[in-house]
Amino acid sequence: MDNKDTYLLNFKGYNFESSLVDTDFLENLDDFEIRDDDVFIITYPKSGTIWTQQILSLIYFEGHRNRTEDLSTLDRIPFFEYNLRKIDFLNRPSPRLFCSHLPYYLVPKGLRSKKAKIIYIYRNPKDVMTSYFHFSNVVVTLEDVNNMEHFMKRFLDGNVVGSRWFDHIRGWYEHRHDFSILFMMYEEMKKDLRSSVLKISRFLEKELSEEDVEAIVKQATFQNMKSDPKANYDEILKYEVGKKTDEGHFLRKGTVGDWKHHLTVEQNERFDKIFQRNMKGLPLKFIWNLNEE
Ligand code: A3P
Repeated sequence: MDNKDTYLLNFKGYNFESSLVDTDFLENLDDFEIRDDDVFIITYPKSGTIWTQQILSLIYFEGHRNRTEDLSTLDRIPFFEYNLRKIDFLNRPSPRLFCSHLPYYLVPKGLRSKKAKIIYIYRNPKDVMTSYFHFSNVVVTLEDVNNMEHFMKRFLDGNVVGSRWFDHIRGWYEHRHDFSILFMMYEEMKKDLRSSVLKISRFLEKELSEEDVEAIVKQATFQNMKSDPKANYDEILKYEVGKKTDEGHFLRKGTVGDWKHHLTVEQNERFDKIFQRNMKGLPLKFIWNLNEE
């Protein structure tokens, strides 16, 4: 272990959520045995993790799709490095599905055999920062923030869980050939959920009937997830992670471009400069609001 405070635990240069992470698990990450049919959803925080958890739960489990089984998405697709429910990963039946915020250099070595699959979801970082700003005042495991100026500094410096957004995405993108990985964009999912579901299922080699696709798309919309206790994380936040107030949800707005309501013109220009400097040479496309194109 490198460094720990109330909120952040720095391990090998990357910030974990201090109160939720098991350091023994981190020490042994490299050698965690990967199976060929394992699937990992990997994201920087606030980029659409629980949304993709819901999509994969619906793709893989008929009982989730037709609502005959009452299991939360967190049980179906546990967090890899934050194993809240102490699930026995080693004896878990295949296919094992996980979600994770790990940077490319900390994931188990076995993922480099390119058999197991990774779905990397990314989102425009102004919306990530806005979502993160609100979320920091919701859960007890994250440090409070007074205003966006403070948070912007913290976020851009990487003094948050997940460390620097720029390093996370660059690391994964530049090392994409070492893994079997699909890059998906939050904003594209928002624009065309059906095509995104089909793209994901093709990558996972899962055949779906027309009826299945309909059921998945319907249950993965923001409104339907928000009202679905199996998907909205409300109970998990309240009883397992802990909330600072009664207000606030994982499913907050679910829109593209909410940053415009939170950044001043000056902050936005500063952000753009830092973005351009840090993203140089990375050909990934970004959508900052949905009226673009
Ligand atoms: P906002 O705070 O902008 O609303 P994560 O799961 O990685 O923590 O990301 C959370 C963000 O994803 C939140 O963003 C949340 O509302 C959004 N989200 C979750 N499910 C969604 C859905 N079905 N459609 C659109 N956005 C969704």
